[in-house]
Amino acid sequence: MSWRADILTLFPAMFPGPLGESLAGRALAEGRWGLKVTDIRDYGLGRHRSVDDTPFGGGAGMVLRPDVVDAAITAVADERPLIVLTPRGVPLTQERVRALSEGPGAILLCGRFEGIDQRVIEARGAEEISIGDYVLSGGELAALVLLDAVIRLLPGVMGHEQSGVEESFSAPLLEYPHYTRPALWQGRAVPEVLTSGNHAAIAAWRLAQARQITQARRPDLYNQYIATGAAAP
Ligand code: ADE
Repeated sequence: MSWRADILTLFPAMFPGPLGESLAGRALAEGRWGLKVTDIRDYGLGRHRSVDDTPFGGGAGMVLRPDVVDAAITAVADERPLIVLTPRGVPLTQERVRALSEGPGAILLCGRFEGIDQRVIEARGAEEISIGDYVLSGGELAALVLLDAVIRLLPGVMGHEQSGVEESFSAPLLEYPHYTRPALWQGRAVPEVLTSGNHAAIAAWRLAQARQITQARRPDLYNQYIATGAAAP
């Protein structure tokens, strides 16, 4: 049984979207992962298939009703983790991505409007996840981001690449810069060490670059790296 994603959304046409292309698209066609999209409106109430209402306590926007969302969840729920994509969630990490990729799949609930009634999130023991400190217009793009990150780790998806072992966020440092031909471009030469054939020198240069860029861009990661004792003195 391959890794299975279920999406609960008010905008089913947003899927598979970019995940129908490239690496993820090929893997989908090969059956390395599966995608089922459910339109929450199919579980809406009344003649207008209503899914939302105004917030108790007042305030802007509309809130998805717990009864409607719960019915949509019931239609797909099983042992897979239920994840709500929301800017108030726990930040997504490569560690969580890897753990998800090693499981049976995920059920991704995409919020819209001002949010989802908190009671259904609690009742279902859903995990609230954010993909970053910025606000999207809905959870759909966040779900696509999460899926992309997971799918590339599934067996057979990345081919000959090293399954992301040496990459930023798995390794404690950001990646060193990359160069290819031509060796001289618009007056800019490739760093000399990379054409030296000296593999030890190349490795040392790359590590120094990675440390420098991490310290400048992500002092939080750099301090973690120092604290773990991974850094050479
Ligand atoms: N929905 C809106 N913004 C989001 C974010 N940053 N992460 C996850 N879901 C979201």
